[in-house]
Amino acid sequence: MEEKHQRRVRYKGTHPRNYKEKYKELQPEKYGETVQKVMQKGGTPAGMHISICVKEILDFLEIKPGQKGLDATLGYGGHSSKMLECLTAEKVEGSHLYALDIDPIEIVKTTERLRAKGYGADVLTILKMNFADIDQVAAQAGKFDFILADLGVSSMQIDNPDRGFSYKTEGPLDLRLNPEKGISAAERLKKVDQEELTGMLIENADEPYAAEIAKAVVTTLKRGGVIETTTQLRNVIEETLAFIPAAERKEAVKKSCQRTFQALRIDVNNEYEVLYAFLEKLPNVLAPGGRVAILTFHSGEDRLVKKSFQRLYKEGIYSDICKDVIRPSAEECIRNSRAKSTKMRWAIRGE
Ligand SMILES: C[S@@+](CC[C@H](N)C(=O)[O-])C[C@H]1O[C@@H](n2cnc3c(N)ncnc32)[C@H](O)[C@@H]1O
Repeated sequence: MEEKHQRRVRYKGTHPRNYKEKYKELQPEKYGETVQKVMQKGGTPAGMHISICVKEILDFLEIKPGQKGLDATLGYGGHSSKMLECLTAEKVEGSHLYALDIDPIEIVKTTERLRAKGYGADVLTILKMNFADIDQVAAQAGKFDFILADLGVSSMQIDNPDRGFSYKTEGPLDLRLNPEKGISAAERLKKVDQEELTGMLIENADEPYAAEIAKAVVTTLKRGGVIETTTQLRNVIEETLAFIPAAERKEAVKKSCQRTFQALRIDVNNEYEVLYAFLEKLPNVLAPGGRVAILTFHSGEDRLVKKSFQRLYKEGIYSDICKDVIRPSAEECIRNSRAKSTKMRWAIRGE
């Protein structure tokens, strides 16, 4: 049977709200002007990710042609592109960037984008791998002169409602960086008991209403209610916080939704476990004098990085670490509101 032609969803006026209506932003090669307009207003165009602290990272990493580096979190490939520009500024044998990501959906698009920019297999190797396995990459590639990890999720992942990362848009409650592995957040909620869920909300996101939200979720599911979508979870949170005075409720619900989604995302992706494994393996995959920079987006991640760098510095394994956390400039935060919570830390491997 002939397939019925589907009309493309029309761009609604000048302010499209729905992800699928933003087809112009999703094709930056074709609609460059639209993309520029969104960026000028401090927004991130749909399907794109604006790299954070690029200057601070490049200033610290001091990348030179002939070096071997690793981008542990490829994402849109923004940082990788900049690192490749430094590596290929002169033609020197051995210049190579390895880049990892666990997202099977975005990695394909980013690979295409970087290959189209002219970065072939001679200078760039992209691997669908968890950065917890950096030792396996180093076993093949050798030790690295520089490493970058820009943790968390990309804007492409947050903005795509099919991935379920945002409480703001309706979609399946999934939240997996690799939807081909593990279980979705909706499945996870069916398995946890009230105590475990309370602990998860406190440990992963410092949620002040953890006990109330956990009780409501578990009771809803026990009574045959369904929490399969982002909106269904948001509704449960909203109902739970109905006791908050009206004037403060909207903001409180927003914050609790953000924290609850963050806690679930950390849980279904084992984010603390993989970060811990990465930090433990780092010294063995860095060449003497090798440099590592890490961007984090919440206090739990930053604490792990800080503790690991401080301990390994005291043990003499790192020859230097940043004394204070580095923050994106105020100007960068205006240009890119998603940079606001970023913290950068660095370390240098002893000789
Ligand atoms: C903030 S984005 C990186 C953006 C990138 N620096 C850029 O400039 O486009 C984080 C990326 O790391 C990936 N990621 C998160 N945890 C990972 C892990 N354990 N192993 C590999 N990739 C991971 C996510 O899938 C996402 O694409």
